Amino acid sequence: MCMLFGTAKFNQDNHLEIGGVDTTELVKEYGSPLFVYDVAHIRQMARGFKQTFEEMKLKNKVIYASKAFSCLAIYDLLKEESLSCDVVSGGELFTALKGGFPASEIEFHGNNKTAVELREAVAAGIGTIIIDNFYEIELLSSILHEAGKKQKVLFRVSPGIEAETHEYILTGQEDSKFGFDVASGQAEQALQMLLNDDAFEVAGVHCHIGSQIFDTTGFSLAADKMIELLAAWTEAYQFEAKILNVGGGFGIRYTSSNDPLPPAEFVKIIAAKIQEHWKKISYPLPEIQIEPGRSIVAEAGTTLYTVGSQKEIPGIRNYVSVDGGMGDNIRPALYEAEYDAHLANRAGDNPEKIRLVGKYCESGDILIRNIEMPRLVPGDLVALTSTGAYGYSMASNYNRNLKPAVVFVEDGAATLVVRRETYEDLIALDVPIK
Ligand code: LLP
Repeated sequence: MCMLFGTAKFNQDNHLEIGGVDTTELVKEYGSPLFVYDVAHIRQMARGFKQTFEEMKLKNKVIYASKAFSCLAIYDLLKEESLSCDVVSGGELFTALKGGFPASEIEFHGNNKTAVELREAVAAGIGTIIIDNFYEIELLSSILHEAGKKQKVLFRVSPGIEAETHEYILTGQEDSKFGFDVASGQAEQALQMLLNDDAFEVAGVHCHIGSQIFDTTGFSLAADKMIELLAAWTEAYQFEAKILNVGGGFGIRYTSSNDPLPPAEFVKIIAAKIQEHWKKISYPLPEIQIEPGRSIVAEAGTTLYTVGSQKEIPGIRNYVSVDGGMGDNIRPALYEAEYDAHLANRAGDNPEKIRLVGKYCESGDILIRNIEMPRLVPGDLVALTSTGAYGYSMASNYNRNLKPAVVFVEDGAATLVVRRETYEDLIALDVPIK
């Protein structure tokens, strides 16, 4: 059974409509493949998190993880919804600033921020830098002393928790490239170094255990670990955290076999646990920060593709090819991620099992390994749902295919927010040698 999210529905012509806009019209106007974002759905997810915290009367900050999807227009939307954002590279920082996002509301993450990136962030007056390792403490300290500035920082702790998700998107375990490890005492050592350096205003701690997580247990264990550490650090160093950032990673629905709690519900449970366990600590509960990326934009995004060739191998399977693939969605190839799809331009019957594949020169260029769809014909429009996170942001020009355009739809109107690449864009960086 295929699911539709947000404002998506089929209209009287059996065309998929999102944000009150007919997707067949969108493809006529903006071409195919095409990423379509349901703006009302993004707003709803953002508001859900904010409302949860407000109802619980908790000091909070909802920080959108730019890596899920970043372009100038998304930052306007974030500002309208009073969200903050994080960035993990000079490029994301540049985009957020160009998108008019206030530097003071931006947080900077990453396990190997370069000196150039840190200088750019400090010069821009970035709100918070989340320090990840000892090298960064030294590097940032020297940059801050040179600039005569004091910087608000958190430091990232790797709490030693293994959440249930794909190995590549697991981050809170001891054997991880991210953050200061607790068990070996590195986290405590980092705190000492930061407290002893007047270039840093140590506002609190951060942890992030992984991504696309369905079970609250890992988050609760991580929060417990952080609270235990903070309790010990108040005793030993009189350190009082003003911020406890528990990261992002709340799971979403890609197919009907995914049944996570609504992300805001998820956060409610985690926040309640933090509130309850905070009793061990002598000072008031700090601001709780979360960093959702996927859960804000994934279900709001749909990719529209046009059907082309088919190869029917008797007794084996039917391969149906569309005009995009691993260049605009690497997730199936990289994480064996699963998706659902709809026929978007007409009513269909007689569903048959097919493999939906892309146009890239690789056997691994599979969008959906097994799906039942009505008999598809060339020119049909196929809508892959829940593609709003880590789709466009991980897109490539493999085979020198062009990256699709991105449109935002809301209240019956479509706005182009990223134009389709052109062949000229493809060679824009090439330097001819003759
Ligand atoms: N905060 C930190 C420190 C992170 O590393 C991440 C994701 C997030 C927040 C946001 O997590 P989210 O709410 O989006 O799950 N490319 C992979 C996902 C990589 C996530 C990396 N970090 C994918 O397509 O599944």
